[in-house]
Amino acid sequence: MAIQKMSKIWHNGKLIPWDDACVHVMSHVVNYGSSVFEGIRCYSLPKGPAIFRASEHIQRLLDSAKIYRIDVDFTRDEIISGMIETIAVNGTWPCYIRPIVLRGYGQAGVNPFESPTEVYIANYPWGKYLGSDAEQGVDVCVSSWTRLAPNTLPAMAKSGANYMNSQLIKMEAIVNGYAEGIALDTNGYVSEGSGENVFVVRGGVLQTAPLGNSVLPGITRDAVLTIARDLGIPIIEQGIPREMLYLSEEVFFTGTAAEITPVRSVDKISVGTGTIGPLTKRIQKEFYGIVTGEIADRYNWLTPVPVRSKQPVGV
Ligand SMILES: Cc1ncc(COP(=O)(O)O)c(C=O)c1O
Repeated sequence: MAIQKMSKIWHNGKLIPWDDACVHVMSHVVNYGSSVFEGIRCYSLPKGPAIFRASEHIQRLLDSAKIYRIDVDFTRDEIISGMIETIAVNGTWPCYIRPIVLRGYGQAGVNPFESPTEVYIANYPWGKYLGSDAEQGVDVCVSSWTRLAPNTLPAMAKSGANYMNSQLIKMEAIVNGYAEGIALDTNGYVSEGSGENVFVVRGGVLQTAPLGNSVLPGITRDAVLTIARDLGIPIIEQGIPREMLYLSEEVFFTGTAAEITPVRSVDKISVGTGTIGPLTKRIQKEFYGIVTGEIADRYNWLTPVPVRSKQPVGV
């Protein structure tokens, strides 16, 4: 989906015209991939727009920066206010929000310490990531690429550089005609899709990889675990062998973009009955109920965005 241009982007505390949000080709980030970022959804509820888990996302952004020794001049609350300001001024929702912290134009060479830190927040309208049919299930493959090994690039940081690995997984899936690829970790356990956490259901038990399997601590992953716990669904966080994907009753992805996307086949082997499974359906119902405002926000996951007029976009 092409990016739809908005009016403003937040840069280091100020709103600037969209077209002025440029970085120099010789900036550290362009040459060495030195950025950390977030992807966040702002949903359209009957009461108005609301950001999903703003606090957790910005905390993860600051955690990613900490791992890379990047000092950020803004607090979590200031960045959340920046997101609210950006959505309100651009007047577009539902939307995707992209806060980025990067090492800008400064010194030559790999040492990042002397390059300035820049913080940007952009937003733009965005609908379904894997297409509108994705709620019924997607066909995926296991990638020949492995997810980042522990102690190579930090998997717990959401850094731009990690997405070179995600791109390899994604491109391999696309050229082979699949919606998405699943990467294994270095021990051969199920790790991630290119931008999603993976869950399986086997014997009625919900299973997902622990953080030690090189997975991003997904905010949607946490939302699903929270909902499942509340619904009384048994959960195990453990390494999932590849073949468990084929033998599970249900498989699904979670992520800000993918939300909760069922998988109907892996490597052309049908998962369960090849349609969305009952447990996935129950969890989806709660999740989508909360983010559409049909179910009360009992976990306090939504931050309202005060806006003057209702102007949702149809995406
Ligand atoms: C590699 C990877 N894993 C998992 C996720 C899902 O995380 P979240 O639910 O926080 O979006 C993402 C997307 O942000 C991702 O890029």
